[in-house]
Amino acid sequence: MSEKILRAKAYWDNNYSVDGPDDFWTKNPLINEYTNRLVSGSPTTDMVTYVKSNYFPSCLPLGLSLGCGTGWLERLLIAKEICHSVDAVDLSENSIEEASRLSQKEGISKINYMVGDLNTMEFPENRYDAVFAGGILHHIENLEHLFAQIRSTLRNDGLFLTAEYIGPSRFQWGKTALQYINRILDIFPPELKINDRIASPTIDEVVSQDPSEAVRSDEIEGLIRKSFHILDVKYYNGTLLMPLYPALNANKLSAHDGPEAEALLRMAILIEEALVKENVLTPIYGLFVCRNIT
Ligand SMILES: C[S@@+](CC[C@H](N)C(=O)[O-])C[C@H]1O[C@@H](n2cnc3c(N)ncnc32)[C@H](O)[C@@H]1O
Repeated sequence: MSEKILRAKAYWDNNYSVDGPDDFWTKNPLINEYTNRLVSGSPTTDMVTYVKSNYFPSCLPLGLSLGCGTGWLERLLIAKEICHSVDAVDLSENSIEEASRLSQKEGISKINYMVGDLNTMEFPENRYDAVFAGGILHHIENLEHLFAQIRSTLRNDGLFLTAEYIGPSRFQWGKTALQYINRILDIFPPELKINDRIASPTIDEVVSQDPSEAVRSDEIEGLIRKSFHILDVKYYNGTLLMPLYPALNANKLSAHDGPEAEALLRMAILIEEALVKENVLTPIYGLFVCRNIT
């Protein structure tokens, strides 16, 4: 493994979590309703439920899940009868150990975990009925290799589904987005924020923490479009809310925290949605459902 990959592995071995960081934008219940609505049309129907009812009328024999982390998605793929069995891969041994422990605890025996680097890993030809990638493609530098592997390992009618960060590489937010993010932040009162200003991190800051972070994220959508036949795309935006949210006081921003907190967050959501709709901003998250090009 290269030094870069070893450093990414060390980062994820030490920083895996079971349900993501608390300041991650989609963890907020109001934002979650918004992203659900953008994907499924209903604030109460989540992405996995949407995917199940639209693309998996019956349970498929074998799925492959890329970059599984601690494994919430694979456990759900089995529980919702999307796949009968799942092979799951991640670079981080500690994440895989935790995933394995959690599936044992839930009595799930149909997930086969593997440690591997998706930049170089090879899969058997014509093996999987579906391939899933949740929040992993933006950690992969050799996307061309991975997409070629996905194409060759998918069975004839197999589906490739990914829900992914497709925004600026290394989180270099554009000038327009930053202007709106900071103008929205200015409107929040001191008790509802923990930071007064948001800027892009430097590339060195991003790379020194995790060299795989958003390494070629701004190329993902173009490469998906070149490599696969797309059946469905649902953008769930995030252009303002994802960078903004960590500057807000996440503990005080639910519908239960009073009318002011709720109204301000709803306003931020509305501004993002309107600016994306009017093509002022580009979405930075999307769900893609694809098949091989025939
Ligand atoms: C943002 S987390 C997403 C984890 C999981 N899919 C989820 O939704 O919770 C990114 C994952 O990618 C894994 N990863 C990073 N680089 C990788 C690589 N080259 N090969 C395989 N997995 C990698 C990390 O170990 C981490 O578990």
